[in-house]
Amino acid sequence: MSTILAFDVYGTLIDTHGLIAKLQKIVGEKANEFSKTWREKQLEYSFRRGLMQNYENFATCTIQALDYTCLYHKTSLSKKQKHELIDGYRTLPAFDDAVDGLSNLKKANYRLYAFSNGRADAVETLLTAAGIRDFFIGIVSVDNLKSFKPNPAVYRYFLRQSGASGNNAWLISSNPFDIIGAISAGMSAAWVQRSKEAIFDPWGIKPTVTVENLRELKEKIG
Ligand code: 2OP
Repeated sequence: MSTILAFDVYGTLIDTHGLIAKLQKIVGEKANEFSKTWREKQLEYSFRRGLMQNYENFATCTIQALDYTCLYHKTSLSKKQKHELIDGYRTLPAFDDAVDGLSNLKKANYRLYAFSNGRADAVETLLTAAGIRDFFIGIVSVDNLKSFKPNPAVYRYFLRQSGASGNNAWLISSNPFDIIGAISAGMSAAWVQRSKEAIFDPWGIKPTVTVENLRELKEKIG
């Protein structure tokens, strides 16, 4: 059976800091810090909701994280600005290497899935707007389990949904918590270390391979 690849979406295929230009217009020089707090809080809210079993979908985590970020950075947004940011988040851009990397893998007969904390309809919109939807056989969303990565149940759910077993399935992600989650659930995992400054958690669990971008994947996992 051909190898199955589960691509994380936000931060791996899609640039979660793709609203910087919009943010600069709204919050000026705080834009980078604002974007960073927003993303970190969004993930923290997903972890906490998963642990508390108090599920709200990922879009709600994103909106509530934006509200937190405004309080933290002492910024108030007009209704229109908030709407623009939330709307912009639905159509964030893909990273530059996504099309080349995905098309090499697809040509080499890997079976590609998107596997995300986002709801399937949100991921469908996002990947379509970014022009990369057609590379994927399907979208697997944690929303069906009402939990989030890195709950081991969501990786097992991915394996069941894609018909994979741990030893022919890889997770591809820039998020170290996601890599550690997948390895712990018996999958192989490729960490996309997009920047030299990105740190992998020192837990004694290593990615199966590390790449700098999606173009390098085919060679490294082949
Ligand atoms: C995703 O599941 C974790 O943001 C990441 O798409």
